[in-house]
Amino acid sequence: MFKVLEKDLLAENIYKMVVEAPLVAAKAKAGNFVIVRVSEVGERIPLTIAGNDPEKGTLTLIIQAVGKSTRDLASIPVGGMVKDVLGPLGSATEIGDAKRIIAVMGGIGVAPTLPLLRAYRKKGAEIVSIYGARNKDLYILQDEVAALSDELILVTDDGSSGLKGLVTDPLRERLASGEHFDLAIAIGPARMMQAASNVTKEFNLPTVVSLNSIMIDGTGMCGGCRVSINGETKFACVDGPDFDGHAVNFDELIIRQGYYRDEEEHSHACQSLGGEQA
Ligand SMILES: Cc1cc2nc3c(=O)[nH]c(=O)nc-3n(C[C@H](O)[C@H](O)[C@H](O)COP(=O)(O)OP(=O)(O)OC[C@H]3O[C@@H](n4cnc5c(N)ncnc54)[C@H](O)[C@@H]3O)c2cc1C
Ligand code: FES
Repeated sequence: MFKVLEKDLLAENIYKMVVEAPLVAAKAKAGNFVIVRVSEVGERIPLTIAGNDPEKGTLTLIIQAVGKSTRDLASIPVGGMVKDVLGPLGSATEIGDAKRIIAVMGGIGVAPTLPLLRAYRKKGAEIVSIYGARNKDLYILQDEVAALSDELILVTDDGSSGLKGLVTDPLRERLASGEHFDLAIAIGPARMMQAASNVTKEFNLPTVVSLNSIMIDGTGMCGGCRVSINGETKFACVDGPDFDGHAVNFDELIIRQGYYRDEEEHSHACQSLGGEQA
């Protein structure tokens, strides 16, 4: 059992949770994730390790409560217990020698991006961040992103904060101006990663993405998380979740992400019904 030490609501349905998990915290590296179970019969929830403190023995998780399992997890109070926290899983990201980085993030993609920014920052890289949200109320951890960035460009769909438009607008503008970057990091919804990777490909800029394919065991055994990278089958849970954005078959990823939609909707409907009866 793993104790919840802190819980904060960051935006509607998005929580930051600090959990006591000393063994995982001691080994976690940027790019790793955990699989969490709320109870003995609970579903397995893959979550990025957004932060770890080896001395305190804690992990920071960012949870977007989108369905039954994430809502159950988010409902655990401070002092309550999580049944399982399995990890660190996945291949840690190789932190190279890139000196200038352009990081593009959207939605919950901030959680996997932050550890990469911290690691590159530690190596002295200069970072320009482009952070997109549908509207200003959906920004999370904006101060942390700003603290790790030399420049932060905010973009909202409705123009309620920063530029109005999509993250790919300032990305294209900066690259088209001839500004030099060694690496792009693009993490967020699959369509956003696909669009950002298409832009960076035009400018021949190496791009790292983090794939949130459906995961079950998280150990390379079930095949649930398989993705096509340059036409080759890879397992996001062990070969990733970070991959070369120019090599990912995003259309296939998006189709596979929807495989269990009927079951998820059923589970959501049952939970809503249970909630109404309670
Ligand atoms: C490597 C990785 C890291 C992730 N990191 C985070 C994170 O830091 N914060 C966060 O909020 N979410 C993260 N996710 C997504 C998170 O795991 C899902 O939102 C969660 O499992 C949804 O479960 P649910 O029962 O609440 O929702 P459901 O109603 O079951 O599903 C809602 C949506 O979540 C996705 N999903 C459902 N089950 C899984 C599964 N087993 N594996 C992956 N995706 C699933 C599907 O796209 C689905 O449409 C990550 C996923 C992966 C693969
Ligand atoms: S989650 Fe089963 S192989 Fe990756």
